[in-house]
Amino acid sequence: MDKMWSGRFSAGTSSLLDRFNASIMFDKKLYVEDIEGSIAHATMLAKQNILTEHELTLIKDGLAQVKYEIESGKFEWKISDEDLHMGIEKRLTAIIGDAGKKLHTARSRNDQVAVDFRRYVLRKNLEIVDALKLLMNEILVIANKHTHTILPGMTHLQHAQPINFAFHLGAYLSMFKRDIERFESSHVRNNVSPLGCAALAGTPHNIDRTITAELLGFDSVSINCLDTVSDRDFALEILFNISTMMMHISRLSEELVMWSSYEFKFIELSDEYSTGSSIMPQKKNPDVPELLRGKTGRVYGSLMGLLTVMKALPLAYNKDTQEDKEGVFDAVETAEISLEILKEAIKTMHVKPSNMEKASKVGHLSATDLADYLVQKCDIPFREAHFITGRAVAKSEELKIDLSDIELKYLQEIDERISEDVLEFLSIKSSMNARTSEGGTSTKRTEEQLEYFENYLMEK
Ligand code: ARG
Repeated sequence: MDKMWSGRFSAGTSSLLDRFNASIMFDKKLYVEDIEGSIAHATMLAKQNILTEHELTLIKDGLAQVKYEIESGKFEWKISDEDLHMGIEKRLTAIIGDAGKKLHTARSRNDQVAVDFRRYVLRKNLEIVDALKLLMNEILVIANKHTHTILPGMTHLQHAQPINFAFHLGAYLSMFKRDIERFESSHVRNNVSPLGCAALAGTPHNIDRTITAELLGFDSVSINCLDTVSDRDFALEILFNISTMMMHISRLSEELVMWSSYEFKFIELSDEYSTGSSIMPQKKNPDVPELLRGKTGRVYGSLMGLLTVMKALPLAYNKDTQEDKEGVFDAVETAEISLEILKEAIKTMHVKPSNMEKASKVGHLSATDLADYLVQKCDIPFREAHFITGRAVAKSEELKIDLSDIELKYLQEIDERISEDVLEFLSIKSSMNARTSEGGTSTKRTEEQLEYFENYLMEK
């Protein structure tokens, strides 16, 4: 019968229920947020003359000691305390006596957990943004070296048109920038303080929610208490934002896996970030990008899990909501280590420009350029130009060469309107550099894009 809420009960709870009901083993991760929240709440209560200055001092000192005990491993996390809120308050009261029992005036665990968890998520939004910026910086370092490195751009995983490697990396820079914007906008939208909502309806005590909001670094106070104690949109948003970011990471990872295969050999991952096989001595495996691809799955799982927990919950707080935390903790920790290791793997990988260039001489990548030449220089309608180019491709296949190496005489046999200036159009390099439209792959346009991302990161 040592529960804080045991007044209306005549028998103690079964230990089975304690095990089932408790969140203390995982929500203890929020101890800093919880203690800071309590200090802010007590400070406000004292300002409003609900607590005396002496009681406030006792509470602050007591909480400092609890924090010390937690950090030095002396604190006993007990399943029977149910959650960290009650575990900490109980220990506080054991240390300071009756003043500890006043801390929960005008507060409920419902607004307490809402404030702790929201602050954790808000902090993680910004930390993930910082880690994303570091990753973008590393990608930029590689990209700046490869604005002239040609590789086959693909659609349907088939060679399509020549692009440069920096342009390819620029696609990922665009994705990661959008990811950053998503975390940031979530942060702005959810930066409201739940403290003072109490159980669901507010409190008759003369509290000042603005004081606690300011002390805890929130932008403002939430509008409606009933919503605030049951809202977990902020948690769903970080799960969605991490999921989308991991989806981008997994696409890049898939390419790193492919590129490090014998079939591609576009890159080689460093020894430091590769693994071996227990049976095949020759193997060097890209475990890092594979695991990044795989970990994306568990993050999606957490998003689906919480969406399902929240679905059809009546207002306001329901115990179901306690299931919100583990998935978010796991997704956040997955995101953090994923961003860090991807950055290191990219930083240390060896790029192999000559293999990329060799690959772009396979598959007649400048075929579109020949068609464009026929349209631009010979005034041939595009459909006809497409057909003539098809014949030139067939001739190259017959000669077992790439279209970029075909001799003028063969082209003129196909159509006599073709003249020598066509050869410039057929070269893979000019094909890449011909794509000068905004956002295109030409070296010049690519450099503009890299500059854009550099400025973006500098301004932040
Ligand atoms: N451990 C609970 C959770 O994580 C804290 C809030 C419990 N509130 C309550 N009235 N049972 O959701």
